[in-house]
Amino acid sequence: MKTPSRASASPKEVLREVRLNPTNDGPLIKARRLLVLTDLHGNLEALKACESFAREQLGLRLVDGPLNAAGGDEVPVVVTGDFVNPLPDSVQMLRLIRARAWTCLKGNHEDYISVVRDRRFMSGVDRGWRFYPVELAARAFESQDLDWMESLPDLISVDDLLFFHCGLHSNRRSDFRGWAERPEALAIGGHWHRPRGLVWSGRRIVFGGSCGIPLREDGRGPRPELTLLERHAGEWRAQHFDVSYDPSPVVSVWRATGDLERGGPTAWALAQELITGERRLSPLMKWLRSRYPGFESWDVEHAARVCRDEWGVSL
Ligand SMILES: [Fe+2]
Ligand SMILES: [Fe+2]
Repeated sequence: MKTPSRASASPKEVLREVRLNPTNDGPLIKARRLLVLTDLHGNLEALKACESFAREQLGLRLVDGPLNAAGGDEVPVVVTGDFVNPLPDSVQMLRLIRARAWTCLKGNHEDYISVVRDRRFMSGVDRGWRFYPVELAARAFESQDLDWMESLPDLISVDDLLFFHCGLHSNRRSDFRGWAERPEALAIGGHWHRPRGLVWSGRRIVFGGSCGIPLREDGRGPRPELTLLERHAGEWRAQHFDVSYDPSPVVSVWRATGDLERGGPTAWALAQELITGERRLSPLMKWLRSRYPGFESWDVEHAARVCRDEWGVSL
């Protein structure tokens, strides 16, 4: 029997790529090490914890500016998308990354903000209850913030490195078609909120864990993640680190704004992820999809009732 084909979550997503090397004459990166942060999701506390760990425990000399401006022992920072949403400090996170001139690309959560501000369309993203937290986080963005965010590429190629968010053809699907034919030796991204390594057509791909909403699910609670890329004998090696921090002030601030309550079940599941380091939102959506066709168009009160009483997510 033929299985019915499921429509792709993002059939028309077109990613924008930039190649930083003006010519292929020589390497542009002079620093030996790069700090890669991904999936910050507006969590300034987690960023602070990762930066302190990098400076104090790893002894890294973190510097601001794009990755090709640093040299020797200086360690520039690269952000591989999802630096905003759902936390109320999302706009502050954007402005911090911009002010520090870190090399940065965008992910699906930056795209979601643009959708709810009516600046672009994306299949599967609507204005219903599932995306309420995005609408709430998006209110603080001024048009110049959105202009800068939307000017970011989805993929950055430099020397023998390729930075991506989720995949080469989508910010929501890990699709690496064409990777074997590309010139880079290593691709590094994020999106899955836990560190992973993958070999695709014999070539290396690394996913960093999330700094802002780590979901390693190893029973150790939420520990913000960072990845250090270090060059050894001409080859980049990736090392993942996770650090301790207290997520409760982050959740308290979110609660105090009223947006955690207003955000409905999506926000509540994300707050539980922040506190536990365990996945809550995708299992909830999977459960709803299997049980209630059309749940996307419920009103938020009905969604809250079902998600709370039948599945167990609450404030
Ligand atoms: Fe993310
Ligand atoms: Fe993502």
